[in-house]
Amino acid sequence: MALGGVLRTLPVLLALLGALLPGPGEAQTFVSPSKAMLPRGGSLQINCSSSCDQKATVGLETPLTKRLVTRGDNWIVYELSNVGRDSKPICFSNCNNNQSSVGASLTVYWYPDKVELAPLPSWQPVGEKLTLSCQVFGGAPRNHLSAVLLRGDEVLSSQQMDGEPTKVTATLLVGRSDHRVNFSCRSELDLRTQGLGLFKNTSAPYQLQTFVLPSTLPKLVTPGLLETGTEGTVECSLDGLFPVLEAQIHLALGDQRLNPKITYKNESLLAKAFVKANAEEKGSQQLTCAVILGNQSRQISQRVTIYSFPEPNLTLSKAEVSEGTEVLVHCKAHPGAVVMLSGAPAGPLGWWAQFLLNASAEDNRRIFSCHATMKVDGQMLNKTQTQELHVLYGPRLDKTDCPGNWTWEEGSQQTLRCQAQGNPSPQLNCSRKGDGILLPIGNLSYITRNLMGTYICRAVSTRGEITREVFIKVLYSDHQTSVVIILVTAIIVLGTVGITAYLYNRQRKIKKYKLQEAQKVASMKLNTQATPP
Ligand SMILES: *[C@@H]1O[C@H](CO)[C@@H](O)[C@H](O)[C@H]1NC(C)=O
Ligand SMILES: *[C@@H]1O[C@H](CO)[C@@H](O)[C@H](O)[C@H]1NC(C)=O
Ligand SMILES: *[C@@H]1O[C@H](CO)[C@@H](O)[C@H](O)[C@H]1NC(C)=O
Ligand SMILES: *[C@@H]1O[C@H](CO)[C@@H](O)[C@H](O)[C@H]1NC(C)=O
Ligand SMILES: *[C@@H]1O[C@H](CO)[C@@H](O)[C@H](O)[C@H]1NC(C)=O
Ligand SMILES: *[C@@H]1O[C@H](CO)[C@@H](O)[C@H](O)[C@H]1NC(C)=O
Ligand SMILES: *[C@@H]1O[C@H](CO)[C@@H](O)[C@H](O)[C@H]1NC(C)=O
Ligand SMILES: *[C@@H]1O[C@H](CO)[C@@H](O)[C@H](O)[C@H]1NC(C)=O
Ligand SMILES: *[C@@H]1O[C@H](CO)[C@@H](O)[C@H](O)[C@H]1NC(C)=O
Ligand SMILES: *[C@@H]1O[C@H](CO)[C@@H](O)[C@H](O)[C@H]1NC(C)=O
Ligand SMILES: *[C@@H]1O[C@H](CO)[C@@H](O)[C@H](O)[C@H]1NC(C)=O
Ligand SMILES: *[C@@H]1O[C@H](CO)[C@@H](O)[C@H](O)[C@H]1NC(C)=O
Repeated sequence: MALGGVLRTLPVLLALLGALLPGPGEAQTFVSPSKAMLPRGGSLQINCSSSCDQKATVGLETPLTKRLVTRGDNWIVYELSNVGRDSKPICFSNCNNNQSSVGASLTVYWYPDKVELAPLPSWQPVGEKLTLSCQVFGGAPRNHLSAVLLRGDEVLSSQQMDGEPTKVTATLLVGRSDHRVNFSCRSELDLRTQGLGLFKNTSAPYQLQTFVLPSTLPKLVTPGLLETGTEGTVECSLDGLFPVLEAQIHLALGDQRLNPKITYKNESLLAKAFVKANAEEKGSQQLTCAVILGNQSRQISQRVTIYSFPEPNLTLSKAEVSEGTEVLVHCKAHPGAVVMLSGAPAGPLGWWAQFLLNASAEDNRRIFSCHATMKVDGQMLNKTQTQELHVLYGPRLDKTDCPGNWTWEEGSQQTLRCQAQGNPSPQLNCSRKGDGILLPIGNLSYITRNLMGTYICRAVSTRGEITREVFIKVLYSDHQTSVVIILVTAIIVLGTVGITAYLYNRQRKIKKYKLQEAQKVASMKLNTQATPP
């Protein structure tokens, strides 16, 4: 290996010597081309020539595979093939025993074998720094090679490569706009100065996913207490999520996974589920809500107490009894509860209570209630049950139900009230003594004197019959009669006066006539006396 290295460097040393030695007036050696760039493994023809005025020996010194192509006077063309690396072949010539040489510079170029972007985290929190790292394997010439880090099509950083392989890095602050953006790395072999071109090789892209998961815990709303057999609503929400549609939410009661209905709104997530409390889960349970976004999660738990508290059992020994019968009112609750039974005599409170009741008419439709209270998880709970008692009694017709004396003004409007009490409710009618005419009970009536009389009100139910007398008095003033009397009196008086006047007048006329007659007779008597024959 060491010997090979020396052999390989020998032409270089010779060339150096040649370059240092040539003096004026000497024959020169030329090489064409003196500089060349060729793809790796490519071939190239090199023309070595000498300016010697005589016949010179011209040759090419190179470790590369060479083939004589053609030659002329003082020149020779070789083809170098399979050029795998940069090389400096040396042309030499011997002119009049004097040797001179000249070196050529061959540069090999090749595309990188591999451009690789280091894998990105699948989720990157917004606001954190992310370092992109790119490695370019192979490729030459390195001083024409650069690596470009790309965010989509946008150039983040472009760096010259040196060394092999080299890592190129760029750091960026991740933002929301980086979500689902493809990042990649591209190598650029720029041989445009060599008249070749710009050769690009791009790495496989990586899609970045960014997220915002606030450090606040989700808001969990639970019933706290839940009665077995009932359903409670559980709500869990969290705000400020990005991208909200990628967020997941899990709700669980103990190890029972709930199936929530999830609503996405703007940047918030809300899960709503119904929890059915089963009897087997009685006791303290943990309700957990977890919001998962990216590779992180926020979790909150709350205690839910599942309890059983059946209604107290309130019983009446009989729901329907006759007046004067004893009824046992009994209430029993869940052991551990305390009952308060309405109507029970005061006493120490326990989980059951009872008392005896002598049912009276007033107890009809009486509602008994049993109120049970129980302390669960520091909270007082209560349940109430009621029962209605029906007492059979009556019929009854008291003074308050049906007044005995009714006194009204004639022509007024009155409601005739008479209501019999009893259970079952009795039938009632009031008929007048004598003619049996019925009183229009309960109706608004015009009072006439025809209503007057004594009525027998009779109330009848399956439990018996009862009667009550009612007197109806109608007050009226008889001013019509007086008018008639006055009129009649007036007529009589007027008639009497008229007749008297007539009679008097007639009498006077008769008297006057009689006087005239008398005068006539007297004058005739005088006439006969005066005229004798
Ligand atoms: C080689 O170079 C010499 C001197 O420049 C020239 O005369 C000759 O034609 C060249 N040969 C070829 C094949 O180009
Ligand atoms: C060869 O080179 C030497 C000096 O470098 C010179 O003295 C000598 O004359 C040269 N010979 C011929 C034949 O040109
Ligand atoms: C989430 O991913 C980031 C980046 O890959 C990492 O630094 C972090 O430790 C991860 N967090 C969890 C909880 O896995
Ligand atoms: C990102 O790359 C993937 C896979 O190569 C491709 O399917 C997707 O369309 C690219 N997205 C964008 C925005 O270019
Ligand atoms: C690199 O790019 C060149 C042309 O731009 C192409 O011919 C070559 O195959 C590429 N290399 C790889 C490894 O993709
Ligand atoms: C949605 O969010 C944007 C920005 O966060 C806010 O401006 C807008 O008022 C929100 N809309 C609703 C309906 O909350
Ligand atoms: C119930 O009360 C009625 C009237 O007060 C009385 O006559 C009856 O004897 C009582 N019955 C019982 C069982 O005490
Ligand atoms: C009430 O009665 C029902 C049926 O008899 C029974 O199943 C229930 O356990 C009772 N409730 C209480 C609190 O005793
Ligand atoms: C009984 O419970 C109900 C709710 O179930 C509550 O509204 C009420 O205030 C409670 N009453 C008492 C006396 O505790
Ligand atoms: C009705 O009133 C009369 C006197 O106005 C009285 O004598 C009678 O006792 C009363 N009857 C009733 C049932 O009150
Ligand atoms: C009045 O009531 C009694 C008992 O209900 C009944 O026998 C009678 O026929 C009723 N009289 C009238 C006229 O309805
Ligand atoms: C009261 O009036 C209604 C109709 O207005 C009638 O049907 C009913 O029989 C009346 N009641 C009595 C007690 O007269």
